[in-house]
Amino acid sequence: MLAPVLTIDGPSGAGKGTVSRLVAKKLGWHYLDSGSIYRSVAIAVQNASIDLANISDIVKVTQAMVLEFECGDSLIVKLNGKDITNQLGLESTGNIASQVAAIPEVRAVLLQKQQDFRQLPGLVADGRDMGTVVFPDAGYKVFLTASAEKRAERRYKQLIEKEIDANLAEIKSEIETRDRRDMERETAPLAMASGSLYIDSSEMTIDSVIEEVLNLIR
Ligand code: C5P
Repeated sequence: MLAPVLTIDGPSGAGKGTVSRLVAKKLGWHYLDSGSIYRSVAIAVQNASIDLANISDIVKVTQAMVLEFECGDSLIVKLNGKDITNQLGLESTGNIASQVAAIPEVRAVLLQKQQDFRQLPGLVADGRDMGTVVFPDAGYKVFLTASAEKRAERRYKQLIEKEIDANLAEIKSEIETRDRRDMERETAPLAMASGSLYIDSSEMTIDSVIEEVLNLIR
């Protein structure tokens, strides 16, 4: 039996990560944070000092990359045996991730790696193209968004809480640049899959978003 899938797509900072993790926990389903896979490629590219214009070498490190996800109280990600959890969340990692994510060959290499997460009793998959490309046959699809202002504010708070230096105006402008790149790329652009439940979380609490998502499944 093919495991059921709930896809949660949307731009960065809409609350997808928090909502997906908590919904997966409530349902007892597995969780795929596809953004962390693209972020891992970004780190692998940086570690190997590859120029972002050198597509063939970027594809090679993507193919060679060994990723391990250890899901305990918090997620630990290892790239080729080395813990990269702390580097994953950096803005610089997200920016490089969105550049390598625009390369069709990189997306092709990562497709199967992501589909392998589909296991019983079910999967919550969080990303940009989960409902459109990776799991087009998912039984439940959500498009979760929020205004750029709100998303920048949330991101700013998260960084300050982690004691990472941050500037709100810079974050907003980076979010807008990343949105544009993710929506305008040729391959698997950020788009709402047909049949998705559309949720704008700008004025909602996390709990009420989770409630709406769970109602879809009940
Ligand atoms: O969601 P997160 O901010 O971690 O994603 C980092 C980048 O990875 C995004 O800006 C996007 O370019 C890319 N990404 C993607 N497809 C996904 C998930 C993330 O292209 N399914």
